[in-house]
Amino acid sequence: MNRLLKYFKPLPVIETTRLLLRRAYLTDTDDLFICMKNENVCKYEVWNAHRTALETLGFINTLITKYDDNSCTDWIIERKSDHRAIGVINLHDIAEPNLYAETGFWLGEEYWNNGYAEESAIAVLNFAFNVMKLNRVCGMCDIENIRSEKLLRKLNMTYEGTLRQHIKIGNEFRDIKVFSILRHEFQHL
Ligand SMILES: CC(C)(COP(=O)(O)OP(=O)(O)OC[C@H]1O[C@@H](n2cnc3c(N)ncnc32)[C@H](O)[C@@H]1OP(=O)(O)O)[C@@H](O)C(=O)NCCC(=O)NCCS
Repeated sequence: MNRLLKYFKPLPVIETTRLLLRRAYLTDTDDLFICMKNENVCKYEVWNAHRTALETLGFINTLITKYDDNSCTDWIIERKSDHRAIGVINLHDIAEPNLYAETGFWLGEEYWNNGYAEESAIAVLNFAFNVMKLNRVCGMCDIENIRSEKLLRKLNMTYEGTLRQHIKIGNEFRDIKVFSILRHEFQHL
């Protein structure tokens, strides 16, 4: 039993200036389908663009099953101004005794370039370091995923190296850059 999962029983709601990080609901289907049917959003992800809203419903149902089991570490990113579900952020590969986790995220393309990804990632890092008391959080991105790399660097993450052909996306084995931030390097309270 991983004792660090106690922090997700239940998944905590995290509020930022413009966003609410919270569990998924079936009513998020339409908002998330708009995001997940877009090839640009999943270009560097291991999932394929959704063709129908039923696929998005299936994704949400998988999350809900895990929330019910107290084992889901994925937050829906909700924009407070209009309550739209605009993306997903998570902590995964949470490991003790190493006090380590990796963070992953995506936003619908229409929400890019507003600082929402940075705002949600800072909130999740704050949770990881100041609530869970983790020691190291890592972020990984495809070597061509410039937007993601830029965000990881803005989060004060340090580039550690490239994992060669680490992930298969479509028919290609892709090189993946690894970034991390350590507990003492994180400034936010
Ligand atoms: C990676 C991803 C989440 C980054 O999203 P993003 O919107 O580009 O990231 P940010 O939140 O950092 O916002 C970027 C820009 O918003 C702008 N911005 C506008 N209003 C802002 C505000 N109020 N506050 C902060 N930034 C603001 C900034 O200028 C910033 O650009 P800069 O870094 O050049 O200064 C997004 O491109 C994405 O979902 N990609 C597809 C999925 C993916 O690849 N995920 C990562 C897998 S590893």
